[in-house]
Amino acid sequence: MAQFQAPKGTFDLVPPRSELFLAVRDALAAPVRLAGYGYVETPAFEETALFARGVGESTDIVSKEMYSFTTKGGDEVTLRPEGTAGVLRAVLENSLDRQGLPVKLWYSGSFYRYEKPQAGRYRHFSQVGAEVLGTEDPMVDAELVLLAIEGYRSLGLQRFRTLINSLGCRECRPAYRALLQEFLRGLELDPETRARIEINPLRVLDDKREDVQAQLAGAPLMSDHLCEACRAHHAVVRDLLDEAGVVYEDTPTLVRGLDYYTRTTFEFVHDGLGSQSAIGGGGRYDGLAEELGGPELPGVGWALGVDRTVLAMDAEELGGAAVHACQVYVVPLGDQAARHAFALVGRLRRAGIATDMSYGGRGIKGAMKSADRSGAEAAIVIGDRDLDAGVAQLKWLESGEQVAVPLNEIVQTLKEKLA
Ligand code: HAM
Repeated sequence: MAQFQAPKGTFDLVPPRSELFLAVRDALAAPVRLAGYGYVETPAFEETALFARGVGESTDIVSKEMYSFTTKGGDEVTLRPEGTAGVLRAVLENSLDRQGLPVKLWYSGSFYRYEKPQAGRYRHFSQVGAEVLGTEDPMVDAELVLLAIEGYRSLGLQRFRTLINSLGCRECRPAYRALLQEFLRGLELDPETRARIEINPLRVLDDKREDVQAQLAGAPLMSDHLCEACRAHHAVVRDLLDEAGVVYEDTPTLVRGLDYYTRTTFEFVHDGLGSQSAIGGGGRYDGLAEELGGPELPGVGWALGVDRTVLAMDAEELGGAAVHACQVYVVPLGDQAARHAFALVGRLRRAGIATDMSYGGRGIKGAMKSADRSGAEAAIVIGDRDLDAGVAQLKWLESGEQVAVPLNEIVQTLKEKLA
């Protein structure tokens, strides 16, 4: 019988590489946690209408990529393709917005999009996200950009760029949208793209095909048609980033794949990743709460892709930095020694030392091979004769140096030497 395989577009995280994923997830979340963002966890599925309204019917995500189904009870639900709509629903449902503003939250989890799989584009992927609700202050937009950059930097990443744009607001965008549509209708485009002009003209600016890009050279840009308030907001964000010493690229053609954005939008792209180069992105979504039937509640946030950040680490050859899971490996020789070893392993772990041991009465040769493979710095070999003398052999695996240490001093000795 053929063996089962992970579904197309998905993959398993297994050791040792899974350590790198954990390290990346933790590193991306660390700056927001330090900045006082609270942890939020929402269900992996929501009512389908939440995403249709939140993310937008005209987006690829909603029109082509959702894992939607009808439950046995007749409910229409969808595996979450992104986190913002669900987090905002949770904020409104739990009245967090009535307990003092702004509400600052972060999350981490799995997301699902029925996309055509390729390197860096999966059907199941992982994001760390952050959302701030209830303030229009451009300082928060800048804070979020800085916190994301800090996360990437803490991993040692260097070859990523920060792209910034403003998409305007409900005051200035409609007029710009009409102007852009007028321009686009005059171009030589295929029927599908022509249809997009009417539904989501900004998306056309994002078309990757060369013949389309060539025609877009003179297209009107949002940045030239911002209202006074949007222009001022954008200027503050840029000033704050300048003052913080951040190098960013003004990218008037930056369009995001979700409909809810207003004003500030940004994306982090890595130059070692090929076509799926966005390792994170986000922006402001001041009208989304009302769109979901809530009060006026401006918001801004981002989501950083854990999978693609790991690929970026590979591209910069930083993957080896993942921590070894094990520091000490205990090798008992004989039944009586195994009992002592079992208790010692417990004591070492309680002292905060990552410890593993060989099981099943293995011989010294095989057990020492496992000790080497475990990545441990030291092995503790306990034979029956050592037990009689009340000692164990502490062997440093890199140098091969070996000393006998009294059993009741091992934990203390290792605590000092491993520091
Ligand atoms: P997004 O740009 O759709 O934004 O996704 C954010 C990041 O998730 C991307 O930059 C990418 O690294 C990763 N990602 C997205 N799709 C895939 C995929 N199929 N395979 C692997 N990685 C992927 C959002 O999701 C918004 N909710 C961000 C946001 C939060 N905006 C405001 N608040």
